[in-house]
Amino acid sequence: MIDLNFKYKSLLSFLEKEAPFQPDISIILGSGLGDFADELNLYKSILTSDIPGYPASTVFGHKGKIHFAEYHNNKIILFQGRIHFYEGYKIHECILPVFISNKLGAQYLLLTNAAGGINKNFVPGDLMLANSLNGTFIKKELTDLIGLAGYAGKTNFYNLPHPGFNDTIKLAAMNENIDLKEGVYFYTKGPTYETPAEIKFISKFGGDAVGMSTVHEAIYSSYLGIKTSAISCITNFAAGISDQKLSHNDVTETAEKVKHTFAALVKSIIKNLNSNAA
Ligand code: HPA
Repeated sequence: MIDLNFKYKSLLSFLEKEAPFQPDISIILGSGLGDFADELNLYKSILTSDIPGYPASTVFGHKGKIHFAEYHNNKIILFQGRIHFYEGYKIHECILPVFISNKLGAQYLLLTNAAGGINKNFVPGDLMLANSLNGTFIKKELTDLIGLAGYAGKTNFYNLPHPGFNDTIKLAAMNENIDLKEGVYFYTKGPTYETPAEIKFISKFGGDAVGMSTVHEAIYSSYLGIKTSAISCITNFAAGISDQKLSHNDVTETAEKVKHTFAALVKSIIKNLNSNAA
């Protein structure tokens, strides 16, 4: 097991000094969704390259900044840029934003991502709330972080995604008249997009959307006791669902088109954070 407190000692003391407040909610912005940071009054922004020991993001559309912001009296830490397993990083590096969020005291984590749509009722531009997450391909790696799950670890997984937080998100979508889809987010390790055969396999096993992030972050986060939910922006039809060939450009272009709806939803979620549901 990796001792993250030891490993990230200087990173933590840097951030504990730099953080202007204890955040209520942490948000990790997925591919192409980074512009959401422009929607809030930013209190303070830190380049991840200035943080000792923080891995560099190598993916186009991931900026590598941590922002502190406030909206409707809720304090937010916003990760603009994610650390992916397919970039060659280790699991303890991928979950660093979750680890930081927990150390700074965030009670909620909203994970966002770009994903390929498998469910035939989804079209690019849809937003999907994860009603469950499939991490079959990544779960084993989590033993590096949490060891062999004891009673608490095992039990906390049952709250993933967090039911109250998911209710808040559904309510926020209703308030904003957003047709928020629901489904299972299925993790694949990448680094390439899937083959049509892999998508057929995932579909048979209940995946509605597919992507290369989120699930390990979510499991670790709920293990730490953070109320965790995930929203996918369906940026493309998954491989073989349509004839169209997949590219990262399609992913960022669709995310760009949907960014106003996404921003309206996330703002409404933050505003309603302290409603009864969560
Ligand atoms: N597959 C995996 N990851 C993705 C996709 C996809 O189709 N779209 C956006 N991220």
